[in-house]
Amino acid sequence: MTTENSDKTPASEQELRDTMVQQLIELGAARSPRVVAAFRSVPRHLAAPDDEMAKVYEPEQAAITKTDASGTHISSVSAPRIQAMQIEQADIQAGMSVLEIGSGGVNAAYLAELVGEQGQVVTMDIDSYVTERAKDFLKTTGYRNVTVITADGENGVPAHAPYDRIIVTVQAADIPPAWIHQLTEGGRLVVPLRMRGMTRTIAFVRDGERLVSDGFELCGFVPMQGVGENRVSLALIHDTEGEEVGLRLDSHPEPDAEALGAALQTPRITAWSGVTLAGDESSEHLDLWLTTALDNLPLMAAKPAARQRGLVASASPLGVPALVEGGSFAYRTVRPTDDPDRFELGAIGHGPAGQKVAELLVEEIQAWDRDHRAHIEVYPAGTPDDQLPAGRIIDRPHTRVIISWP
Ligand SMILES: C[S@@+](CC[C@H](N)C(=O)[O-])C[C@H]1O[C@@H](n2cnc3c(N)ncnc32)[C@H](O)[C@@H]1O
Repeated sequence: MTTENSDKTPASEQELRDTMVQQLIELGAARSPRVVAAFRSVPRHLAAPDDEMAKVYEPEQAAITKTDASGTHISSVSAPRIQAMQIEQADIQAGMSVLEIGSGGVNAAYLAELVGEQGQVVTMDIDSYVTERAKDFLKTTGYRNVTVITADGENGVPAHAPYDRIIVTVQAADIPPAWIHQLTEGGRLVVPLRMRGMTRTIAFVRDGERLVSDGFELCGFVPMQGVGENRVSLALIHDTEGEEVGLRLDSHPEPDAEALGAALQTPRITAWSGVTLAGDESSEHLDLWLTTALDNLPLMAAKPAARQRGLVASASPLGVPALVEGGSFAYRTVRPTDDPDRFELGAIGHGPAGQKVAELLVEEIQAWDRDHRAHIEVYPAGTPDDQLPAGRIIDRPHTRVIISWP
């Protein structure tokens, strides 16, 4: 395995790996010592020989290995942060049997490090170009306990089942029965599941015929091909080249793109919620609530130039939730507050009913804050119970920490 290789590795490669690992720890993506050791061992740049070596070790950088005719990336070696996040979600122990759906070679090598000589890794991809590359990489780097298979992941790999862990590394809109049935009871399935346009890598635990989530994080992945293909479609509402603005539809009603495009050209209307987020606080839980509460809420995606010209206030690569009603729409936004570390949530509306739609979105932001957001308060040790808010109390020598849910 790579211990032999790393002795022969020039210092600069090892330095790049060490720096990457340090960054993954600081980002909270790699947490357990065994995962850290695996990421320190694998010479991932050998899987993307055409890319600049330092880039392949950047935590957020995926190495794109295939793009389809429409320009969509369909294969990559995933970014180190995403790989580490999923591997931590999977909680892999020595001796386990693991199936990876969507290959690249690198992630399979990390999995092989974690399961060790007594374990088994099967990695599969629908594309033989990808599996050939993965095989070459695994051979060069000396990982012999990995079986590489070319097939559609829809059916899993029954020949080597059951698996203690299944890690899906391609965006899925559904979970085929094979993934559940090829998992041991209590086994974990980690899958980037797209729900109403937003993809979250979710760790599920098998409980008979059902899966129960044990943590999720927002992410982006290349789309599924084959039997399970189910892509998001883009409805462009502004198609000037280089500053396109569109709505990503995931079973959402087809919008009146012309009317919304015209609405985008009209002055914006803003509505503010009074609800604030800390500067480093993710809107992930809020967005899950908005997705639950509102039906016609596709993500609005925009090219950076559209933002620079002031057409839209946000150009997030994953898109921002936008509520559509006829020829009007409103999307989530933030503005600074007097406190430099906090931002106020609000909505920007356009169109004849822009004000009403923006207010509807703001009402749901307020509902999340009021009814669905956890609050954490800290009181000095010794504070009597009747002076504490209702909630779960965690007593420490100096403090009483209260976690409360509305
Ligand atoms: C992000 S890449 C995998 C990266 C890899 N896990 C790594 O980082 O080492 C996703 C892969 O999923 C593959 N894929 C897409 N649809 C698939 C399917 N139905 N079954 C198996 N693989 C599929 C693509 O060909 C692509 O190579």
